[in-house]
Amino acid sequence: MQREKLIIFDTTLRDGEQCPGASLNIKEKLEIARQLALLKVDVIEAGFPVASPGDFESVKQIAEEIRGVTIAGLSRALEKDIEATAKALEKAESPRIHVFLSTSKVHRDHMVEKAKDEIVEMGVKAIQFARKYCDDVEFSPMDATRTEKDFLAEVTREVISAGATTVNIPDTVGYTIPEEFAQLITYLKQHVDNIDKAVISVHCHNDLGLAVSNSLAAVQAGARQVECTINGIGERAGNAAMEEIVMAIRTRRDFFSTVETNIETRQIQPCSKLVSSLTGFFVQRNKAIVGKNAFAHESGIHQHGFLKRKDTFEIMDPADVGGEESELVMGKHSGRNALLNKVQELGYSLSQEELNRVFEDFKILADEKKEIFEDDFHTLIQKQKFCEEQQVTYKLKTIESGFETGKEPHASVTLVSRDGKEHQSSANGDGPVDAIYNAIDKITGLTCKLLDYQVMAKTKGQDAQGEVTVRVQHEKREILGKGAGVNTIEASGFAYINAINKLLLKSKSGPVEGSDVPGP
Ligand code: KIV
Ligand code: ZN
Repeated sequence: MQREKLIIFDTTLRDGEQCPGASLNIKEKLEIARQLALLKVDVIEAGFPVASPGDFESVKQIAEEIRGVTIAGLSRALEKDIEATAKALEKAESPRIHVFLSTSKVHRDHMVEKAKDEIVEMGVKAIQFARKYCDDVEFSPMDATRTEKDFLAEVTREVISAGATTVNIPDTVGYTIPEEFAQLITYLKQHVDNIDKAVISVHCHNDLGLAVSNSLAAVQAGARQVECTINGIGERAGNAAMEEIVMAIRTRRDFFSTVETNIETRQIQPCSKLVSSLTGFFVQRNKAIVGKNAFAHESGIHQHGFLKRKDTFEIMDPADVGGEESELVMGKHSGRNALLNKVQELGYSLSQEELNRVFEDFKILADEKKEIFEDDFHTLIQKQKFCEEQQVTYKLKTIESGFETGKEPHASVTLVSRDGKEHQSSANGDGPVDAIYNAIDKITGLTCKLLDYQVMAKTKGQDAQGEVTVRVQHEKREILGKGAGVNTIEASGFAYINAINKLLLKSKSGPVEGSDVPGP
């Protein structure tokens, strides 16, 4: 039997980016969009253009550059939102306007304050308006799983008549259960007479840990588009994890016998690593498909069976999700050409200036570390592409940090400001890192609250590079900073300075994140 295509709609850059603390800049969003294109997702939801100038610009740039993928932008059922989305998508090869509107009673009464007939009218008008700009229009009745079934069927029928080409059924608050959700899809297929004129999509949140199961149950009931995010990031407990959906469908082809996806699964792990590193949301070790332990076999019995025959304990080949061992790549004698080849092989495009800086950093790292692995390269390249690209107000020149049991930790730092001036300061702290951050605060005059601090070894071995991620709050702003290096204390300083520079840059250009437009 011919399998039908299951459309993979990726919303990492919209719903994923919407979760607190995950905010990405335009360059970072573009890099993720490029990776999603390599992964061969069918639709990239690039953002919510009316939400902020930054969101508008990133949707626009993604629409201009990315080819071979449909680019979607989100809108409320309002003309000004739809106009902004249509404008941002002007240069897209294949644009889609995605309109959402609350339909459940609790949302009708307390969020939009509209009666049922007003909701239907608003939805219909919004779809008709969107169709003036675009042939590909998606409608989402927000909080669908808590909406009266007959009303949900009515809204769905009316928006399809108005021109919606995809109807997405969101489990906005992660409330449904697989069997119930499958029944809802079946109900809509039976009660919406024009349902065959649109693709049925689902969008599940993970509040009860059921987002992937609910999405898969809906696919079995006839949904042909799944909305999901890389690593399952998203509002609250997140969205359905794309890698889990895709690999469930591929691994259990026997069970999911009616569908297939177009995903290039070998790109799953590279994409997961990029999203994790740029958002600062680490992937838990035991996370299915992309966690560090997902293919590790520790127990003696497992190892014994696995060594005799892989499929005793392994249902997927790690290579199929791009999970081979990180390769040893270059040594301290490798030249600039070898570096350029490696950069291209890893899928990055760097300007000559960026390449020169990566080369300088590579030489320093090669002196500190005997073996340089692919993951070290990702860190070096990302540092140049995403951290150093901003106009830097302060650079960290030196750190002196002292720690002795029973004594208060102490640190001295020297920063260089853009005008070339050196600034020196010392401070105590609860720990060596705290002392460094206090000394930096004395120089910058900013008082920042450290919300989160994480260190992760990027490669194997005792001399592995540590990647430090800090989440810093200043007044109402939350900023992510990153630093890497073999010396974790120094990397902690780099991470903090990276956050401070972003903060200072944002105060000059005005706030980018946050706006008066409420998110979905
Ligand atoms: O969760 C939700 O309902 C959404 C919609 C905008 C699709 O994200
Ligand atoms: Zn959502």
